[in-house]
Amino acid sequence: TRKVLIDCDPGIDDALALMLAHGSPEVELLAVTVCGGNQTLEKVTRNALCLADALGLDGIPVAAGADRPLVREPLTARDIHGDTGLGLVELPEPRYAPDRRHAVEVIARTVLDAQPGEITLIATGPLTNLALAIRQYPEIVGRVREVVLMGGGVATGNVTPVAEFNVAVDPEAARAVFTAGWPVTMVGLDTTHQSLATPEVEARFAGLGTRPGEIAVGLIRSYRHAYRHNQAFTDPPCHDPVAVARVIAPEFVGVRRAPVDVELHGELTAGQTVVDLRGLEPEECPTAVSTELDHAGFWDLVVDAVRALGEP
Ligand code: BDR
Ligand code: CA
Repeated sequence: TRKVLIDCDPGIDDALALMLAHGSPEVELLAVTVCGGNQTLEKVTRNALCLADALGLDGIPVAAGADRPLVREPLTARDIHGDTGLGLVELPEPRYAPDRRHAVEVIARTVLDAQPGEITLIATGPLTNLALAIRQYPEIVGRVREVVLMGGGVATGNVTPVAEFNVAVDPEAARAVFTAGWPVTMVGLDTTHQSLATPEVEARFAGLGTRPGEIAVGLIRSYRHAYRHNQAFTDPPCHDPVAVARVIAPEFVGVRRAPVDVELHGELTAGQTVVDLRGLEPEECPTAVSTELDHAGFWDLVVDAVRALGEP
């Protein structure tokens, strides 16, 4: 099993990412850290704690981190994730006790207390916590097996024509993460826009007859509602679990090595991930970008994981 930490901003699709990770025997979820993003830090932390209760994360630390980007003003995605950050899904007041340490400390301790090369960091929100962790504990860079993040895109954006939300919120942090020298796999919009939650997918979750299945249905309906006026999508894309799927079943999320950097100053292009696809895949390049998704294989993984989380 791969040992993973998830840094997230739940977030409708972050919630599905947590479900996929915790419900899959191929990975062991060691810690959850939270970063302000889709909603304020306070709200996304609350959501993480509610989900910890609902998914039975018992004993897994859930720690809050950065409440704002390194340099820029905070930006939320209320239009997609709603006032609470979990769309139309209402969960009871959390009983789960947050870990009182800062997320950065939890990230560093998780990496440094494990064997070198043992921990995979999965990021599904803005990269502020990871960037702070690199600065405060540079020794983690050489000890992480891999960073797999949902963010960016090879030739597409969502906040702007070329900038994706997680990178656009904190481009300085994203640049620090992409250029640190550790292995980074970018699971970007080109791929996550293929992860459409069709009515058939929703029906499979409904058919589970479990509380986690019901939550998954609520999350997908929320996403469908948020995308209802978006002509580009027949069904809503579920970005974040694709990054988790890359760790669980790499055969379902194809990647290629390529240098990645982040545009910080462009008048029209700030927050764009600049991916160098010229030439062959450079052998020594530590970064890779996703290129394709096996839609059926991906949703099988998520449905199996959600099934494993609850009794009918
Ligand atoms: C990303 O932005 C957020 O709104 C989602 O949770 C996902 O992580 C997609 O651009
Ligand atoms: Ca997210």
